[in-house]
Amino acid sequence: MAERSTAVVAASAALLLLLLLSAPATADVAAAAANRYPPLASGLSFDFYKKTCPKAESIVRDFLASAVKQNVGLAAALIRLHFHDCFVQGCDASILLDSTPTEKSEQEAGPNLTLRPAAFKAINDLRARLDRACGGTVVSCADIVALAARDSVGIAGGPAYQVPLGRRDSLSPASQTAVFDALPAPTSNVTTLLRFLARINLDATDLVTLSGGHTVGIAHCSSFENRLFPTKDGTLNQWFARQLGLTCPAKGAVNTTVNDIRTPNTFDNKYYVDLLNREGLFTSDQDLFTDARTKPLVTKFAVDQQAFFEQFVYSYVKMGQIQVLTGSSKGQIRANCSARNPATAAGNDGDLLPWSVVETAVETGLVL
Ligand code: HEM
Repeated sequence: MAERSTAVVAASAALLLLLLLSAPATADVAAAAANRYPPLASGLSFDFYKKTCPKAESIVRDFLASAVKQNVGLAAALIRLHFHDCFVQGCDASILLDSTPTEKSEQEAGPNLTLRPAAFKAINDLRARLDRACGGTVVSCADIVALAARDSVGIAGGPAYQVPLGRRDSLSPASQTAVFDALPAPTSNVTTLLRFLARINLDATDLVTLSGGHTVGIAHCSSFENRLFPTKDGTLNQWFARQLGLTCPAKGAVNTTVNDIRTPNTFDNKYYVDLLNREGLFTSDQDLFTDARTKPLVTKFAVDQQAFFEQFVYSYVKMGQIQVLTGSSKGQIRANCSARNPATAAGNDGDLLPWSVVETAVETGLVL
């Protein structure tokens, strides 16, 4: 009997010890979950369309699951579209606006010329599907771009995550100069890249992590021929340089190659393995492994895909909140993502009445 009670006491003590030891671990997990996302910008929330268009997210996801099956490059194209939208004038869908007689589209500026038409078409197709399902124009074009980018990451094999929603669309595009001032060239080194990112409150961690978007997609010779001509960039792995030379035999070639030679269509950490092997495509990629400020994180991501995925979610959601327009007084929700809403007789800046009613109801918490 005495033996049995000693055993019970010992077992209870062991259980207590286990509980005590596991308490900090549980707290860590909760803290990690809390740190998974950056602070949300004022006016954005994860359930913004819960009442006004509850099916919005599943519509985007289902559409892309089948569209990416038809065209695997669409995922890369949409991931890049969100980046080019957010870096220039904030995530306001300004990249989608077509030229008008008085305003030139951002699409016509050099860095945007290689955005794929399929990405713009997918956004317009989603606009139509969402309008049918929501019973009107409820979801903004900027939110459609953010959701499409998120689902593209997931469909390509990357992490699943939630998107803060509630962005509104710009009334006009950024100027051509503003596009060049916001999007760094692929010939940039880390010092230049950090200078560009600092203007929009992104840091070296964000730079290394977001560059990981180059784990999918393609690039034209013009984007990396500076590394081949007139002389070969000494940081290029010899074998890789020869392969690039086959694709781009002379300056001015118009061919394309994949961004990540290991797994070109899969969203994984192999981009960082490429950099370790001096097989990064752009100067802006390879310099991340040359520069002492960014090299440690490149090395870490090359061996720890989970760490890359977690930081990618954080940095991409952070990027997705750059200078967002929120609240009914800023921007509008475009009925046609490629054009500003026509101004109404009431002179309400092109925001038609039914949308204002829906949005006002959302903001005041009314159930429609
Ligand atoms: C840090 C600075 C960056 C530079 C200098 C840069 C530059 C480029 C260039 C030059 C291309 C190829 C264009 C072409 O020749 O067709 C490209 C493609 C791409 N970029 Fe970036 N990029 C940067 C950051 C990002 C970020 C933050 C993302 C997203 C997280 C991203 C995602 C992509 C994707 C997915 C492609 C392939 C697009 C496709 O296949 O259509 N890039 N980038």
